[in-house]
Amino acid sequence: MNKTKESEMSNTPSWDWPLLITKLHKEVIEYFASTDLSQIGHTEAVHNFAQLLAKLERYDEHRQALIEMAALLHDIGCPNAKNKYGNTNAPNQEKEGKIVAAQLLANYPISEEDKKLLAEVVGLHHHQKKLKEMGFEILAEADLIVNLLEGYYDLGQADYLFDHLVSSKSGRDIYRNIFLKY
Ligand SMILES: [Fe+2]
Repeated sequence: MNKTKESEMSNTPSWDWPLLITKLHKEVIEYFASTDLSQIGHTEAVHNFAQLLAKLERYDEHRQALIEMAALLHDIGCPNAKNKYGNTNAPNQEKEGKIVAAQLLANYPISEEDKKLLAEVVGLHHHQKKLKEMGFEILAEADLIVNLLEGYYDLGQADYLFDHLVSSKSGRDIYRNIFLKY
């Protein structure tokens, strides 16, 4: 077997991904239910958009699963950041999020490589350029869409944000339909 085939096989684990996503989904809701209820609606919405964009982009099952798990975990550091620093500023929530994500994933039967990658994505989720390099730009796009819908950014900035932060084909289609039709 040549090297390419070997690495393709090792990158295609046979976990029951839908089951693992569902398990994590429930655990994230439970975590926020005991720490900060305000995070649940936002996380549900970002997960929905990330799932949709990944499906429209026709990601394979493994990549789709990692995107969905990252979306569920992306703001998991907010409650601890609020407690420790009194705010959820990006560096604080990313630092705390990386730790909590790793703790939540510790007992999941996925590769150590995937666990490390997911924790890193959570720890960098405001850094669009780095996320894109890691193949997770859709997570940032889903978060941006929801943040605009929730009023965290002024809709007057929608054009600027589109030009600078939205690069996937599906992200651009959905974003254009929602925010750039006026
Ligand atoms: Fe978010």
